[in-house]
Amino acid sequence: MERIICLLAGYLFGLIQTGYLYGKAHKIDIRNHGSGNSGTTNALRVMGAKAGAVVFFGDFLKSLLPCLLVRVIFKDKPEMVYLLMMYTGLGVILGHNYPFYLKFKGGKGIAATAGLIVATDLRMTLLCFVAFLSIVIITRYVSLGSLVVAVILFTWLAAFATLGAYGIDQGLLFEFYIITALISGLAFWRHRANIGRLVRGTENKISLNFGKK
Ligand code: G3P
Repeated sequence: MERIICLLAGYLFGLIQTGYLYGKAHKIDIRNHGSGNSGTTNALRVMGAKAGAVVFFGDFLKSLLPCLLVRVIFKDKPEMVYLLMMYTGLGVILGHNYPFYLKFKGGKGIAATAGLIVATDLRMTLLCFVAFLSIVIITRYVSLGSLVVAVILFTWLAAFATLGAYGIDQGLLFEFYIITALISGLAFWRHRANIGRLVRGTENKISLNFGKK
């Protein structure tokens, strides 16, 4: 029952579409511009640096807050609190990527994934941050940085959970692997067009000239 509540509560938080709302306030539907994605990268691309920052923090916080809340609420269930956080994060990502009221057309869930990562483990956060930033600065492919973060998330969480770092009950480990694999897998699924472009060498590069629009 807790699992379903966390998933649903996460989904509701995920429905807060910062990029879409910011665009609407500026009289554009961001989903009709740039890559058509309603997340941070496209907000930055279409509406500039301030929009990118606002959209990132909005989408990041809508995941960080419920995941931290679950960590506090279920602290008396140490054997499954991290599993419940994964359900919450998965819910946020699903709500962000597939908002029912926007005909299920949302974003790619990376800022929301970042919120889950920060709520879960600060060492993993540091690794993801360094890897993401290095890749984006060197290649200027945000999508590639996002995909590497998705790989780190699954690998790190599966490895450390197996080593007992999160206190997860042995009987719940397989379920934990499945939910974290789903979170990582969703990032790959949502980036499938980006992956095709990366392979063909035609992926959009982000401009690092933040002084301009
Ligand atoms: O977080 C989304 C990013 O990885 C790619 O965005 O708009 O270039 O498809 P976009």
